[in-house]
Amino acid sequence: MIEKESIEVINTHFVFPNDTNNYGTIFGGKLVEMMDLTGALSAIRFSGENVVTASIEALDFKIPIKQGDIVELRSKVIYTAKTSMVVKVDVYREEKPGESKDFCCRGYFVFVAVDTHGRPKPIPILKPVSEEDKKFWKNGETIKRRALERKALSP
Ligand SMILES: CC(C)(COP(=O)(O)OP(=O)(O)OC[C@H]1O[C@@H](n2cnc3c(N)ncnc32)[C@H](O)[C@@H]1OP(=O)(O)O)[C@@H](O)C(=O)NCCC(=O)NCCS
Repeated sequence: MIEKESIEVINTHFVFPNDTNNYGTIFGGKLVEMMDLTGALSAIRFSGENVVTASIEALDFKIPIKQGDIVELRSKVIYTAKTSMVVKVDVYREEKPGESKDFCCRGYFVFVAVDTHGRPKPIPILKPVSEEDKKFWKNGETIKRRALERKALSP
């Protein structure tokens, strides 16, 4: 199986009124959708296959994102197994264009590469290069194990 490095995907969105609640801050579900999409792009680019979301780790939203803010999402594959990969997605808020970015939340998504019938398909192996890549590989391993533990507990 081929060994590959992972490249970061960066997606940027402007927060419109229809993305927000009565308080003028972004809906949690809307942000999860953006994160899922950005994460999926990383998984698709890495594997070269179609993917489905198998699992989303719990998310903690640290600071609100408001209407008119710019949302930046950065995703990267951090761990691979035979057909699945764990993708880290970080979210930043930019209140004023060109000024500093505030970290808002990090999510871990497990994607599985699938064929045209939706059956799992083997993917390349991630090659961790830097010390940071190696640290995140271990985090990814833990995320994947926890996802399978949760799966085992659900009907
Ligand atoms: C994800 C899915 C393809 C897995 O199919 P499956 O029949 O369980 O296949 P397998 O048991 O062979 O598992 C395939 C891989 O998925 C992983 N996997 C399955 N369920 C998982 C879960 N809940 N969390 C994390 N990984 C999971 C397995 O560990 C395995 O990984 P590996 O090959 O890298 O070791 C299937 O459960 C599915 O289609 N789920 C619905 C996906 C979906 O609709 N998502 C939302 C919209 S995109």
